[in-house]
Amino acid sequence: LSRQDLSGQTVLVTAGPTREPIDPARFLSNRSSGKMGFALARAAWRRGAKVILVAGPGSLPTPGNIERINVQTALEMHEAVMQYAEKSTIIIKAAAVADYRAKEVASQKIKKEAIGTSLELEKNPDILLELGRKKRDGQVLVGFAAESSRLIEEGTRKLQAKNLDLIAVNNISSESTGFEVDTNQVLLISREKSENLPFASKEKTADLILDQVVQLVAKETIS
Ligand code: C5P
Repeated sequence: LSRQDLSGQTVLVTAGPTREPIDPARFLSNRSSGKMGFALARAAWRRGAKVILVAGPGSLPTPGNIERINVQTALEMHEAVMQYAEKSTIIIKAAAVADYRAKEVASQKIKKEAIGTSLELEKNPDILLELGRKKRDGQVLVGFAAESSRLIEEGTRKLQAKNLDLIAVNNISSESTGFEVDTNQVLLISREKSENLPFASKEKTADLILDQVVQLVAKETIS
């Protein structure tokens, strides 16, 4: 049995990409596989938490005894997250939310002759930014950032801008870390310190991130 250091906690995890439809055949999305988020959900469940997983499209099996809500678009993810955020003590936003959606979604497949060369976009809501603004006392908020350069600077900027307690920065310029693969190497930044986690499986990385989360929860409980 794993250490039950998250028992009594309700952990909301988001994972995977979002998919923004253009017409019934086409969409905008990104390379996220959901593996890191699913590993976090599984690890949190093993460590005794009640886990709610809001998952974008992908075919990963639901880990453990976890409540899973499947979503497609950023707007659907926003709605699901806001529904569960209030009762969650820990929120981990590992999903790669599409920044933009098509302004108009065609109900019929657009003929290729009619597509043209530009697509009008509209910005999606920044779910994590909103969670940071609404964060209540004692709630621990964890973000992710996929970066290809200036990891510390970008991570620190996002930690502050989104009012996070912890941010896990992925280096996506290496083929063995970040998108799609089973391994990762993460720079973990809190308000007090930054730490390079070792190159490891996403399972192991999830446990190391949760170790930090447990420390932050303890600190919130004291203060
Ligand atoms: O600013 P950036 O998109 O790099 O921030 C990444 C973090 O913000 C991730 O934790 C991601 O889940 C979250 N995010 C979000 N809603 C968006 C964009 C990003 O929750 N529209």
